[in-house]
Amino acid sequence: MRILVIGSAGQLAKEIIALGPAFGHEIIAPGEKELDLTARDSLAAILEQKAPEAVINCAAYNQVDKAEENPELAMEINGYAVGRLAALCRAMGIFLVHYGSDYVFDGQKEDFYQEDDALNPINVYGKSKALGEELLAKELGPERSLLFRLSWVFGRGPQNFLYKLSGWAQKQAKLKVVYDQISVPTYTVHVASWTYKALAAGLTGLYHMVPSGYASRYEVARYYFSCLGLSPLVLPVPSDYFPTAARRPLFTAMSNEKLVQKLGALPEWQIGVREYSEHISG
Ligand SMILES: NC(=O)c1ccc[n+]([C@@H]2O[C@H](COP(=O)([O-])OP(=O)(O)OC[C@H]3O[C@@H](n4cnc5c(N)ncnc54)[C@H](OP(=O)(O)O)[C@@H]3O)[C@@H](O)[C@H]2O)c1
Repeated sequence: MRILVIGSAGQLAKEIIALGPAFGHEIIAPGEKELDLTARDSLAAILEQKAPEAVINCAAYNQVDKAEENPELAMEINGYAVGRLAALCRAMGIFLVHYGSDYVFDGQKEDFYQEDDALNPINVYGKSKALGEELLAKELGPERSLLFRLSWVFGRGPQNFLYKLSGWAQKQAKLKVVYDQISVPTYTVHVASWTYKALAAGLTGLYHMVPSGYASRYEVARYYFSCLGLSPLVLPVPSDYFPTAARRPLFTAMSNEKLVQKLGALPEWQIGVREYSEHISG
């Protein structure tokens, strides 16, 4: 397929762009100056000019704390612009792949979240991602789109928890990491590969795209440092030890069972963390 990628500088987009040709796709990935998700008219012009069969939207406003100060911008990029993109895709007959977040849930379920669980975001970022889901469903519907909810994404670049852990460990022998936020760390290389497998299998609709298992940030930190051969002292602390502008939901691990039924078994989260640690050490 000829695929247009939006948000080409992001950590997930980098792998979507890198892996596309191996799956037989032609990838078009303009920079953000040329392709701004929020600029409807120029977006429409680019879609007409490039005539892709599918769009993969990796663009997002992902700064969870800053979103509390900039709710309009977060709602615009993660919500309204996704709705306008979906409407353009419907009008032009383009298939749309979009990514959601576990932060659309409130973390109170005390079990794995399923695709059809009710949304109840507790911060602006989560609300903006929920709005994007709602408008995607309204403007395009599940038959002509794929919506993958992700959690705790890490990959190339500085905007992720593992990258930050490496930086902290270089400066301190002792680290404090929260033990009461629990979800599923998800590697961009896996997301890109599973996205292309899902497209090849003709999937449509909503899926939780996470590896198997779950972990607290504290457990992720300990495992990641063991992969790197580092041994800082990691002290578990509760979330309120680090006051943040945005509240974080506590347990948002999502079940990947629906996707596993279509694509086959998905690895445990540790595999992605290990591969990432090998990538950055090598
Ligand atoms: N990161 C996570 O932990 C996480 C967790 C759950 C779900 N997700 C979802 O996964 C998807 C991929 O996230 P990611 O981790 O790859 O995020 P990322 O690294 O922050 O990439 C997002 C990219 O979108 C760009 N962007 C922002 N506004 C744009 C606009 N108006 N037009 C074009 N590009 C724009 C950003 O540029 P600037 O940096 O210049 O703003 C950034 O390069 C997103 O939908 C995200 O919500 C991520």
